[in-house]
Amino acid sequence: MKIIKTINEMRDFRRNNAGSVGFIPTMGYLHEGHVSLVKLARQENNYVVISIFVNPKQFGPHEDFAAYPRDTEKDITLLKNAGVNAVFLPEVEEMYPAGFETYVSLETLSKKLEGKSRPGHFTGVATIVSKLCNIIQPDRAYFGQKDAQQVVVMKKMVSDLQLPIKIVVGETKREKDGLAMSSRNVYLSEKERKEASVLFQSLQLANEMIQKRERNSEIIKKAMSSLINETSGTIDYISFANPKNLDEVQIIENEVLISLAVYFGKTRLIDNIVVHSV
Ligand code: PAF
Repeated sequence: MKIIKTINEMRDFRRNNAGSVGFIPTMGYLHEGHVSLVKLARQENNYVVISIFVNPKQFGPHEDFAAYPRDTEKDITLLKNAGVNAVFLPEVEEMYPAGFETYVSLETLSKKLEGKSRPGHFTGVATIVSKLCNIIQPDRAYFGQKDAQQVVVMKKMVSDLQLPIKIVVGETKREKDGLAMSSRNVYLSEKERKEASVLFQSLQLANEMIQKRERNSEIIKKAMSSLINETSGTIDYISFANPKNLDEVQIIENEVLISLAVYFGKTRLIDNIVVHSV
């Protein structure tokens, strides 16, 4: 496995390795969710490249950029066993040199859901992913469904910019109690960690209500909120949206993306499921 720290070296790797490349962009502190994306990429490509870069442009001024968990040594050990060909570890100074001023921004999709609570977040994500894809030139890029809006934003960006890249989505990996795996789970205290399974429980409750033919999203939101409010969690939002354009839906028909963000202390957790109504 090659460890690559500069853009020139990364471009050389790509030039010297003809064949398809599967790319997994990450911010490190890797878990089983990332490893499952590596496995998917290995099945479909000649080479697998993963990047580890905590992207300052996707954090708001009051968010956790400085505190974001980092353990590159541990990540590299995990990746060696997972069958990755190259790990790209660029420096912030090389990705965003002084005077950097060009951004990729989606006019409407980036302002919905997460974008309302985290203004500028998706501009940061779209900018870094398009830069990394430009350098690595992958055939396929892999993202987890846990960040549902990120997937929608990536698909739209690739389509609008006519990038010759297929976006592949891996399912959300969960802990035994249903909590979605996330690098941020490490912030939770023991009590918060126990309570945090309520995100998935509330999503399951929503699913059950829909299967029992409840179609009014406001009624389901109330039931989800009551469940979450039994814990110390503070709800940022609960959303029922069209999975393709992320427009909010009142009356559920066909497919609906149910997503939520909940704070436990300072830790903001997100999760989602897509439900097909019958
Ligand atoms: O999902 C993430 O970890 C980040 O948003 C990504 C895609 C690596 C861009 O920095």
